[in-house]
Amino acid sequence: MCGIVGYTGPREAYPIIIKGLKRLEYRGYDSTGVALHNSDGLKIFKKKGKVAELEDAIIGKNLHATVGIGHTRWATHGEPSDRNAHPHRSAGGKLAMIHNGIIENYIQLKQELTNKGYIFTSETDTEVLLNFIEEIRKNNQCYLEEAVRVALKRVTGAYVILILDEDNPDTIIAARKGSPLVIGVAKGEHFLGSDASPMLEYTKEVVYVNDYELAIVKPDQLILKNLGNEKITPYVQKLDLELAAIEKGGYDHFMLKEIFEQPQTIYDCLRGRLDAEAGTITMSGIQQYTEQIVNANRIIMVACGTSWHAGLVAEYIFEELCRINVEVEYASEFRYRNPVINKGDVIIAISQSGETADTLVAIENAKQKGAIILGVVNVVGSSIARTSHGGAYTHAGPEIGVASTKAFTAQLAVLTMIALKIGYIKGTISEERYRHLLNELQQIPEKAAWTLKHSGKIKELAEKYKDARDFLYLGRGYNFPVALEGALKLKEISYLHAEGYPAAEMKHGPIALVEKTLPVVFVATRDAWHEKVISNMQEIKARKGKVVAVITEGDKTSEQLSDDVMIVPEADEIVAPMLSVVPLQLLAYYIGVAKGYDVDKPRNLAKSVTVE
Ligand code: M6R
Repeated sequence: MCGIVGYTGPREAYPIIIKGLKRLEYRGYDSTGVALHNSDGLKIFKKKGKVAELEDAIIGKNLHATVGIGHTRWATHGEPSDRNAHPHRSAGGKLAMIHNGIIENYIQLKQELTNKGYIFTSETDTEVLLNFIEEIRKNNQCYLEEAVRVALKRVTGAYVILILDEDNPDTIIAARKGSPLVIGVAKGEHFLGSDASPMLEYTKEVVYVNDYELAIVKPDQLILKNLGNEKITPYVQKLDLELAAIEKGGYDHFMLKEIFEQPQTIYDCLRGRLDAEAGTITMSGIQQYTEQIVNANRIIMVACGTSWHAGLVAEYIFEELCRINVEVEYASEFRYRNPVINKGDVIIAISQSGETADTLVAIENAKQKGAIILGVVNVVGSSIARTSHGGAYTHAGPEIGVASTKAFTAQLAVLTMIALKIGYIKGTISEERYRHLLNELQQIPEKAAWTLKHSGKIKELAEKYKDARDFLYLGRGYNFPVALEGALKLKEISYLHAEGYPAAEMKHGPIALVEKTLPVVFVATRDAWHEKVISNMQEIKARKGKVVAVITEGDKTSEQLSDDVMIVPEADEIVAPMLSVVPLQLLAYYIGVAKGYDVDKPRNLAKSVTVE
């Protein structure tokens, strides 16, 4: 949550920071602020609202500066407001700071500072940390860098902080624990960001700062240290990301662009790994752990939100193909239980961002208990990817729309490949079935393209159903998690109440909701459960509910039973979720648009949940 940007060098800092903040708005967008050091001294401009609102509000101000920091907020401590927006200024006035994360012991620190006479102008934990740093600097008569180090040793929680100091105009002090920080390196200048997007057009050389590291960033110098004041040699990596990948490319919204990218992203995910003709799956990040997975007593998938739904689909797939016991855990619950982790357990962490705080801590805990951790992650170099022993990137490219779409299908593609590989080595699937499924998987990009091509009617359905108050999403087997995902997409984007349920379980409660105004969305593609699903559809029809169904092309029975249908091509049930989810993503998108909502930035949400 929260996006941070910084710049120091010879260029105008403000345009770089504002453009960077717009790219990071997916991380939070309830307030925005920048601090610039220029001829007027250290100036702070901040405001409740999105980046564009701040930009409009400060036209005409002296924004010339060659050093600055900027912040786009997702509120944790204190409501979204001008005064809670970052940057915060220290009580002495010399320091300005932005922060992403939560300082858990801020109440105690605040009390200590209040006792010393500090008065706070905001409700944030950030202002507390900043004044705590200032107090240490004053008391110890030390450099800012030293004060930051001492302060951070007292802090519990997560943070990335960037600080500007009026007395050291061209220097940014940065530190990280538990939230991401990337530093772009170029000749005579440095860029800082929550991810690499703010610096893409300026440099491809980046340093991913690690936990408990502190950076002293000047135009022509980058010093990295640990909290023990030992120097660390920055590890400069080459970025493999193009500007076009983070732009809308003619689509109205990133979400729509990302839905339509799926044939390509699934293809990219399979490319170089799956060779159906040769009958091989090559995944270098898994290779070393093949034996452990094959012999695993249990696989535990940990994830949140959409990624958790991918884990649920994978549970069905792994149990079917590999005959390994699988548990799928919400990372937020798993980390605070005292889960039994035995030798021989394999943890698979699934995450688009690779920065979700709960998932990260869950795997850190499990790692300490001796489990093998594999990451199925989209963002290269992210914290979860780096914490995992091995794993596989999903290669879906940057996902900017807050609602996850292409990341989900890419996660399914990766997880299916792992399951197929392990099942084949273990001998729990026949050669024939293995070969068949490789072919089926290879055809998914083409079939996803077909699905999108035949999705024209979904916009009309959105108009028809947009005023419904509640929705029920039902599915069985592999399609049950797809129903959950469809309901989540609708809630996020359209602010409509939607519940996902196993279609059979519906009789044990939710059926009471059924009446003629209730749309019941069935994920009813042809699979082993199909006849049962048809019976469930009959039960809804008998109670006058509206049946909207995702069906397989040519399935007349389902079509006749439904009020409206969305069509996907025939596919093996193991790979079908990568197709059946697509119409549900589009339905949510079009309903959100029809209701006039900002689908790329739905209220209260942030793309990357870096607080627990
Ligand atoms: O980056 P992650 O995959 O770890 O994020 C997990 C969830 O926050 C995420 O999937 C969220 O549920 C999506 N925005 C849903 O569309």
